Amino acid sequence: MKFFVDTADTQEIADLAETGLLDGVTTNPSLIHKSGRDFMEVTKEICGLVHGPVSAEVVALDHEGMMREAEVLRRIADNVCIKVPLTIDGLKTCKKLTGDGTMVNVTLCFSANQALLAAKAGATFISPFVGRHDDNGFDGMDLIRDIRLIYDNYAFETEILVASIRHSIHVLESAKIGADVATMPPAVIRGLFRHVLTEKGIEAFLADWAKTGQSI
Ligand code: E4P
Repeated sequence: MKFFVDTADTQEIADLAETGLLDGVTTNPSLIHKSGRDFMEVTKEICGLVHGPVSAEVVALDHEGMMREAEVLRRIADNVCIKVPLTIDGLKTCKKLTGDGTMVNVTLCFSANQALLAAKAGATFISPFVGRHDDNGFDGMDLIRDIRLIYDNYAFETEILVASIRHSIHVLESAKIGADVATMPPAVIRGLFRHVLTEKGIEAFLADWAKTGQSI
């Protein structure tokens, strides 16, 4: 499973990229607002920090406007992935852009039928929002399971990019289901490394090592 980080904080991205485990980045207008940075400038900087896809979202609602914005965004770097909303205009834009060889991430997916439409439109990634789905009384993981089944039934190549992840159980369940990508807030990625028994084990080993009086 690929790991993307869901942030526009370049310091966090640079730190996580150093682990060698980061496969890409997703951003959205709210994350750009949170960064306090210029959209074009921060997107360019992020594209230089990772080799993998960097999702940058259009804000126009009509197909022509989305195409105009995508044109500007895709000139930023080769690893820009254009993020479009799951609407009729968004999917028209997706079909056009992927037909031209541009990566597209279709965002704000909340149903398996929407995911089916995105795959038919040739999306590179579909982003089902599991956390927001849970918040509204649905099971986000059921959505991932349904999309996996449908995509496998028809051998669609669109990658399932699990979004709106809130905690490590979302990551674990996504991996068990066979989702292709998980995009996570930095804190969730860092949390995956930790286990109380790992920490206690290190502490105990170091205490015993100190008693040996040796060094390496
Ligand atoms: C993904 O591409 C989205 O930017 C993101 O995962 C949304 O997460 P949120 O529901 O925590 O805002």
